[in-house]
Amino acid sequence: ELSRQTKLKEVAGIPLRDSTVDNWSQIQTFKAKPDDLLICTYPKSGTTWIQEIVNMIEQNGDVEKCQRTIIQHRHPFIEWARPPQPSGVDKANAMPAPRILRTHLPTQLLPPSFWTNNCKYLYVARNAKDCMVSYYHFYRMSQVLPNPGTWNEYFETFINGKVSCGSWFDHVKGWWEIRDRYQILFLFYEDMKRDPKREIQKVMQFMGKNLDEEVVDKIVLETSFEKMKDNPLTNFSTIPKTIMDQSISPFMRKGIVGDWKNHFTVAQNERFDEIYEQKMDGTSLNFCMEL
Ligand code: PPS
Repeated sequence: ELSRQTKLKEVAGIPLRDSTVDNWSQIQTFKAKPDDLLICTYPKSGTTWIQEIVNMIEQNGDVEKCQRTIIQHRHPFIEWARPPQPSGVDKANAMPAPRILRTHLPTQLLPPSFWTNNCKYLYVARNAKDCMVSYYHFYRMSQVLPNPGTWNEYFETFINGKVSCGSWFDHVKGWWEIRDRYQILFLFYEDMKRDPKREIQKVMQFMGKNLDEEVVDKIVLETSFEKMKDNPLTNFSTIPKTIMDQSISPFMRKGIVGDWKNHFTVAQNERFDEIYEQKMDGTSLNFCMEL
């Protein structure tokens, strides 16, 4: 493993990639448009998966049209920055409407023009434990995030919300609490695993699309983990090793519900459950923990 000097910086107490924080004024003054659809997730919750689904729906199930570019280039990532390359905001600005954009920002850090334009939001949440495990392996292979240390060290970092994009608890709660005030379709990774067809149909309706059942079946097939893992346009294999070293852990790692059981000790699990109760108390959120 390469030695890594990367440090996160903070905005209003939320740790973010340093390049994002360095570009913060451009991000905050981003001008949303009323017909923008914003894909919102806490990291490792199924962003790439929902992107592929949305893209297939957008293109009426036309695989060739979806495969014109790699997935990272299809929907501008608004807080992404890596000078001198064009930032996520630059890319969004250059994109014709109606735009589909993506973000990992918590509600309080979203550029305010999204709220004033009453945009549509597609939020995907994944159960905290699997999300935490997936993020650990991503931290290990990413060369642009700080070194996560051991699993035990990372465990503390995660529960204290000191990972990039902040606390899972606050992120999910924040988006969940406003789901009825804005046009938000709130989806769960576990539901997508259990019944992808039903969840894809929800997304389709939300996007105002009406596709034939055979097209929906094709989208289910094309967006399966197995297909996306083998597809160079969706598996991040074109990203240089200096950014993601997939020989450490693949981006398309397992794609299952319940892998936390292979990582948490009994004591860690008890402690996590206690913290979870405290932090999520009063929300009506209920996550499936195994399938
Ligand atoms: S990122 O970096 O935040 O954009 O990552 P994100 O795409 O949100 O999350 C990556 C995890 O999602 C899994 N994945 C899938 N699961 C099921 N089906 C499909 N099609 C799919 N595509 C991606 C991916 O494997 C990561 O989870 P883990 O648990 O690490 O395997």
